[in-house]
Amino acid sequence: TPVKPFDYVIFGASGDLTMRKLLPAFYHRFRTGEVPGTARIIGVARSALERSAFQQRTREALESFVGDAYHDPETVTQFLELVHYVSLDAADETADWSGLSALLEDGRVRVFYFATAPKLYRKVCATLDARGLITPESRVVLEKPIGIDLRTAQDINEGVGRFFSEENIFRIDHYLGKETVQGVMALRFANPVLENAWSAEHISSVQITAAEVVGVEKRAAYYDTTGALRDMVQNHLLQVLSLVAMERPASLDADAVRDAKVAVLHALRPLTGAAVGENTVRAQYQAGEVKGEAVPGYLDELGHASTTETYAAVQAEIDTPRWKGVPFYLRTGKRLAEKVSEIVITFRPPEAGRSSGADLFPSPPRANLLVIRVQPDEGVTWRFNAKDPADDGFDLRCATMDVHFERQFRQRYPDAYERLLLDAVRGNPILFIRRDEVEAAWRWIEPILEGWGRQDVPMCGYPAGGHGPKEADDLLARHGDAWYSGA
Ligand code: BG6
Repeated sequence: TPVKPFDYVIFGASGDLTMRKLLPAFYHRFRTGEVPGTARIIGVARSALERSAFQQRTREALESFVGDAYHDPETVTQFLELVHYVSLDAADETADWSGLSALLEDGRVRVFYFATAPKLYRKVCATLDARGLITPESRVVLEKPIGIDLRTAQDINEGVGRFFSEENIFRIDHYLGKETVQGVMALRFANPVLENAWSAEHISSVQITAAEVVGVEKRAAYYDTTGALRDMVQNHLLQVLSLVAMERPASLDADAVRDAKVAVLHALRPLTGAAVGENTVRAQYQAGEVKGEAVPGYLDELGHASTTETYAAVQAEIDTPRWKGVPFYLRTGKRLAEKVSEIVITFRPPEAGRSSGADLFPSPPRANLLVIRVQPDEGVTWRFNAKDPADDGFDLRCATMDVHFERQFRQRYPDAYERLLLDAVRGNPILFIRRDEVEAAWRWIEPILEGWGRQDVPMCGYPAGGHGPKEADDLLARHGDAWYSGA
């Protein structure tokens, strides 16, 4: 269903995110008729550009990032009519903001999207307010990371909160917009077979991985002050963890779901003191080979010394009866062998002596695995024990059932931003992060950052194109576990 006509103002419009993700996402939804032809998408950035030049850049972005959908010249032309540009330094409250205000129409939903440095969020809100641009229908979308630690996050929340009420603040975490991440709730709560087994009694560990092949590329200035823990773990991985681990929400209302998620974040056992060294690994990529191509190490790419990690692995525990003693292994890194995000649930194999299947067969049954592929090739794999057909006795062998959602549902899997951009227009916050969630996540992350700052944890290395540092393997090996590398 189409949303109502809106004005969407993107601060930071010449950046990577706008070109790669935001404009392509609007285009896809324009093609399906959800974005009305009277909507305005207004890019704001410092560069002095004519509207036509920004439209040309938009065209090039579509050509690069929307795939076959670009081969529809009439729709592309119509879409470019929605696109406007205002050259403005948003950090300058004395600048001439009239070009922007002239484009905005009263009575419409108005969304301000901040794809800029978080330290500007509060200031830009104050200027919007001073210029009378915040209407009752106005909303603000804040890109992650919200701050660099708990205090800066609280400052941003408080600062933006002066000008927008919480229901009009949309803190985006695009992992929540990924179909398979949303699908975790369906998988769990609509399938009693899974939900009944969803606890420490039956699950021995959970792994959440977000591995990337790319290095830091043109984002070194941002990345080197951020690092993997702040860039990925504080937000994306903890959000996925909270969906996997939460209790059943009372309903699918945004606040019920967010209440259930934040309860998990509050129940994360704090990693402080020696626990930081015992449960975390940080590392930087070194020179190596990625898809047959030699690539330099992180420090060589930067050209200076740095203590920023490009890889982080953490063993978390959740202090609730449901998850007592179950390790949640999180890992993310740049310049790894493959781009893959997945959730791996390892179930306990039948125990010997429990009048279970354990003693029945000549070979012991192996653990069942449920692998939720977040991307690419969204789907689910289930590994189970089957009778080995090559054996005339009752030897067991692992078999897998593989579901590929795109094939099964014959449906294009949309980019995460598509739904999120329009949910902000609809005023639906279910897939956005509430203030207390951001702060709870920082509260847990901060002592890890502090431990790393004290050099309690060595900076390890890993060759680009590999599977990460050996120390991350050791983290699991001490419990007899190993990172998943295919069923
Ligand atoms: C972003 C990070 O939030 O997520 C990037 O800032 C990272 O560093 C990206 O590359 C990964 O997103 P996805 O959707 O490609 O897994």
